[in-house]
Amino acid sequence: MPDEMLEILKRRRSIRKFREEKLTKEEVEKILKAGLLAPSSKNKKPVELILVEDPHTIQALKNCKNMGTAGLDSAACAIVVTADSRKSDVWVEDASIAATMMMLEAESLSLGSVWIQIRNRQSASADAEIEVRNLLNIPESYGVLNILAFGRKAEEKAPYKEEDLQRSSVHRERF
Ligand SMILES: Cc1cc2nc3c(=O)[nH]c(=O)nc-3n(C[C@H](O)[C@H](O)[C@H](O)COP(=O)(O)O)c2cc1C
Repeated sequence: MPDEMLEILKRRRSIRKFREEKLTKEEVEKILKAGLLAPSSKNKKPVELILVEDPHTIQALKNCKNMGTAGLDSAACAIVVTADSRKSDVWVEDASIAATMMMLEAESLSLGSVWIQIRNRQSASADAEIEVRNLLNIPESYGVLNILAFGRKAEEKAPYKEEDLQRSSVHRERF
């Protein structure tokens, strides 16, 4: 029996060019569900997701960061991953897991995605996290981890092969 999860993990690549076609409501709903299914420390569920489908707002999100935003040029939608830092001292980890699970669900639907880092990144003149927070009315206590861009793939990237795995990163019994 093929290991379906590993196949999805190998196929997932960062996709930064998308076709014009929108995603269906069902596809978007499944991606959001994957985020909501993520585990969180002490089950505090600090993560909150902002779905953005308006092309003008997607463009405005792009302007919140000075580089690495190519994925937003043609994205069908974006999900901004935030978390209430008052609810959890490990909100970064919680938000990262939710983001990863949404990217993997997208791949399982043969959709493309890319992680656009916002936390600890800059816009042309200020802090990218503050810019995104202001743009989308996100309360100050919420951290903004990243923006995920989604769409139908308009670029082909080869899936990872067994030979691509950096085996030296695995240690056994001790470092
Ligand atoms: C924490 C993190 C931050 C990233 N930030 C960006 C980003 O700001 N812009 C971007 O286009 N890609 C970003 N990426 C995607 C990486 O460049 C990409 O995952 C890496 O080059 C490996 O390629 P792959 O995703 O195709 O396996 C980020 C990925 C991670 C995990």
